[in-house]
Amino acid sequence: MCRFVCGNDGSINVRPPAVCPTIVMGQGRNPGLCHTPFVAQHELRINCRLHEIGTGDLAGAAETHGTCGALAQVELKQISKSFGATDVLHEISLSVPDREFTVLVGPSGCGKSTLLRIVAGLESASAGEILFDGRAVNELSPGQRNVAMVFQNYALYPHLSVASNIGFGLRRSKLSRTQKRAAILDVARLLEIEPLLSRRPSALSGGQRQRVAMGRAIIRDPDVFLFDEPLSNLDARLRMQMRAEIRALHRKLPTTTLYVTHDQIEAMTMADRVVVMNAGRIEQIGTPSEIYNSPRTKFVAGFIGMPSMNMIDARLEDGALAVGASRLALSSNWHAALAGHKDRNLVLGLRPEHLRLRTDSTGLPAVVDLVEPTGSETLIYLHHDALHLCARAAPETDLRTGAQVYLDLHLDRAVLFDAQSGLALPRPEPTFATSGELA
Ligand SMILES: Nc1ncnc2c1ncn2[C@@H]1O[C@H](COP(=O)(O)OP(=O)(O)O)[C@@H](O)[C@H]1O
Ligand SMILES: [Mg+2]
Repeated sequence: MCRFVCGNDGSINVRPPAVCPTIVMGQGRNPGLCHTPFVAQHELRINCRLHEIGTGDLAGAAETHGTCGALAQVELKQISKSFGATDVLHEISLSVPDREFTVLVGPSGCGKSTLLRIVAGLESASAGEILFDGRAVNELSPGQRNVAMVFQNYALYPHLSVASNIGFGLRRSKLSRTQKRAAILDVARLLEIEPLLSRRPSALSGGQRQRVAMGRAIIRDPDVFLFDEPLSNLDARLRMQMRAEIRALHRKLPTTTLYVTHDQIEAMTMADRVVVMNAGRIEQIGTPSEIYNSPRTKFVAGFIGMPSMNMIDARLEDGALAVGASRLALSSNWHAALAGHKDRNLVLGLRPEHLRLRTDSTGLPAVVDLVEPTGSETLIYLHHDALHLCARAAPETDLRTGAQVYLDLHLDRAVLFDAQSGLALPRPEPTFATSGELA
């Protein structure tokens, strides 16, 4: 199935060789919301409104006139935003491919909501361009952009039923009452809230209300979904459930999505791609695995992952890492990667799972400060001189506060940062044989 937009002359030409495309024009993309299906047995010219959007199996057709292919690609080009003298966004460039689920994550106040509101058209950019499928939309109103936004405070109308709340998104549409009713039913089925349609919001649980809010967005059949911390008001258990539900919904209804959260777990579990923001700038864009395993900056490394990556001040001296009074031997492949960084102040980044605890006296000596069992694992907080670290251990560990241990540092998994710029240095190819032995 591909999506297309009618050409400038208000038509699409389709010449099918073998595949007969089923083409659906107009408002709906969800079966049941669709109108006027065409089955092309032979060459076909479809007349439609200018830039009308449709879906169809055009991929099998020999020729299409008009644009066929990615429709709801969102592209931000050097977006900046200032409120008076306060610069909030600095030259944000980002491309979200059609149907991708992209999560913007960053600490509170870094500009995520502002960016989302600029994409929605609720806020104007001070500079830069917003393109939907290659067309600049800066001057278009939120309605003309065909986006739907779901907020943290989803504000359902308390005096309206669930059905009327969902149908509220269609209030300006030209659909008949019967069509609207069918559309509401379709959305309710999709979200599995059909039995709740006649209830008022006060008779719903938090998760059900959130689903109604999503229904109100879905029924408009937007090209782009924008979510701004939609799960923040829910308790931890429900948040987990809704995360999975939103992802499942995106599989059923693959619409380009920009999802904002300050919660790194939400970002990691939901995103096709994560965009990490800090102080109005993008720090890194990547898959959850890239962001976790190969953070490009110290900020990303510290922000993503719980507990945070251990950050250890170090210096490269004579092929070894000087950490306080200790020296950690580095394998030869690190030497090549670190050529040019001699005598520089570095930060050694090591995830808690890359510190192994030993009781024989090899490795970095440390004293246990706190043992924190979580059930599935135990976190061990310890110190070596003034250096405070966290290690993950098996749940059955019997370590006690005050115990003397030795740390095996898995330097092949470490990330080294330039202390001044905060940028990660290139890593050597992993050899899986380089533990942090004392030099
Ligand atoms: N309308 C506004 N007027 C002035 N400052 C604003 C306005 N909206 C947001 N800001 C400021 O912009 C910064 C980013 O805000 P926001 O985009 O809401 O961050 P986030 O969603 O990442 O928490 C904050 O410092 C906030 O105070
Ligand atoms: Mg916000």
